Amino acid sequence: MPFDQASMVAGITTRFIGRQLVFVPRIGSTQDLAKELAVQGAPEGTMVIADEQSAGRGRLARRWVAPAGSSLLMSLLLRPRLDPAHLHQLTMVCSLGIVDGVRDATGLEVGIKWPNDIVTWTDAAGTRQGPVRKLAGLLTESGFVGERMDYAVVGMGINVNLDVADLPETITPATSLSSELGRQVDRLSLLWPILRHIEERYLALAPSEAAEVPGAGPIVAAWSARLVTLGQRVQVSAGQEVVDGRAESVDADGALLVRTDE
Ligand code: BTN
Repeated sequence: MPFDQASMVAGITTRFIGRQLVFVPRIGSTQDLAKELAVQGAPEGTMVIADEQSAGRGRLARRWVAPAGSSLLMSLLLRPRLDPAHLHQLTMVCSLGIVDGVRDATGLEVGIKWPNDIVTWTDAAGTRQGPVRKLAGLLTESGFVGERMDYAVVGMGINVNLDVADLPETITPATSLSSELGRQVDRLSLLWPILRHIEERYLALAPSEAAEVPGAGPIVAAWSARLVTLGQRVQVSAGQEVVDGRAESVDADGALLVRTDE
């Protein structure tokens, strides 16, 4: 299927997520364009999608470069009335959208590695196969007017049709949907359910705009239910300190609660 604006728009059934779509064949980073549009007043739900990204950003100052035809590279503009302390809930919403969208489009069960990685650990038949492998990553950035959060941009990079040998070495080994499934995956058939699931989850979060974030409860519960990290021995770098222990649970903002031997 072609990967262009008209084909993308043709299958979008959401109310506002991705309705305002900006497709660019090649870009430095979709995050930068989405943030520019945010500052210019673009509406909530605006989505920047690129086919190829030459200077993409990942977490912890990592790079996220992707050749044409290989990936879903997108940045979603949101304008939630959310306390900035709860920003991670937007990452949770989009992570869940990817997990559910990948399952709907391909049948592959994927999970979340804390805090922002989408991973798989099974083969296409659902049998556990080898170590946890990273399929996608998310990066959430925000802009402020004074103390108030003006916008958030959630960047999502999904390895779709990529040869694993072309991917850089990372702590969590990288993979792609095509490597896992042994076939090419149509990127638009993946995009549409992801947008639907993101919208559904985001609307469920909306009542939480009141003081105590009650709407976040089900989102946090769904997100933590898909965390492959819980129950595992982990080493967490917190500034200079490295904490060793067992990942037990997460709090409402996604912070990992680790029980040390002490
Ligand atoms: C990570 O795992 O470190 C997060 C990676 C996020 C990459 C995506 S690709 C689309 C968007 N544009 C960027 O420059 N980065 C995000």
